[in-house]
Amino acid sequence: MNIREIQDEIIRLKKENDICILAHSYVSRDVREVADYTGDSYKLSVLAKEVKQKTVLMCGVRFMAETVKILSPEKRVLLSNGIAGCPMAEQMSKDFIESVKKENPGYTVVAYVNTTALLKTVCDVCVTSSSAVQIVKNIDNKNIIFIPDCNLGAYVAKMVPEKNIKLLQGGCPIHASIDPKEAEAMRAAHPNAKMLVHPECVPAISLMADYAGSTAGILDYARKSDADEFIIGTEISIAEQLQYEFPDKKFYPLSMKLICPDMKATTLMDVYNAVRGKGGEEIELDDDVIVKARGCIDEMIRLGG
Ligand code: 13P
Ligand code: SF4
Repeated sequence: MNIREIQDEIIRLKKENDICILAHSYVSRDVREVADYTGDSYKLSVLAKEVKQKTVLMCGVRFMAETVKILSPEKRVLLSNGIAGCPMAEQMSKDFIESVKKENPGYTVVAYVNTTALLKTVCDVCVTSSSAVQIVKNIDNKNIIFIPDCNLGAYVAKMVPEKNIKLLQGGCPIHASIDPKEAEAMRAAHPNAKMLVHPECVPAISLMADYAGSTAGILDYARKSDADEFIIGTEISIAEQLQYEFPDKKFYPLSMKLICPDMKATTLMDVYNAVRGKGGEEIELDDDVIVKARGCIDEMIRLGG
């Protein structure tokens, strides 16, 4: 079968088997094309609560599939490819955060949604990159511990100076690998381009950009802008996606190192196998993990709305 035929079969089978396909904007284009919904992690987690189908197939990474399961425990939730994790989500253990909490009584622990379900059970509220600034502003406590991404945390601290934000050493190995010198060189090479970056990049890059925000925020900014050239400082699929939408404009990836191997792990064949019952990993979480982690995600939706 060729790609078009496989895509048609996936679309037929997902309807026949009552499956909703959610795809993060970083997964490959052939997979995004068969999804019911695409978007950033905030949009996908809110949508997951509303979809009618009995099975949700997540094309993205494990913490995203876990978030769907936490929000919709009655649904069957499949991760298209079980090896797709997010290295940042695994960086801090539950025991470590419990000891940090003991050392810092009275602090609200804010967890980036890129964390395991188990870690969320000991945190107070989740944030995504698109909601972090707003949620931290809305928290009724001045003292905050922000985990695990110290780059996103530092960016939030700059945007919400009235809060006392403690950071721990963690972050995205892909976005954090970009040196501010590379960003300066890109600016010099494309002086008329708007620079749009994800706040998982180091703060020096977020602060030199014209816009820093989530994948959805970057797409939105570029779609509404009159500019003809853009430097895109996040996973290269976003520059690619924009280039398809606006063939007459130019979208330069900030760096060709911005490729997330985990987001690229899901292939169209993984999706095909999952919708025909021959693949995908079912996400199973203990009831007490679901209940405790859900409090953290519900707080995100409440404070972010
Ligand atoms: P968003 O929150 O922008 O979807 O990003 C998720 C992610 O993994 C970024 O690296
Ligand atoms: Fe995790 Fe970074 Fe990949 Fe996003 S880009 S899924 S934060 S490793």
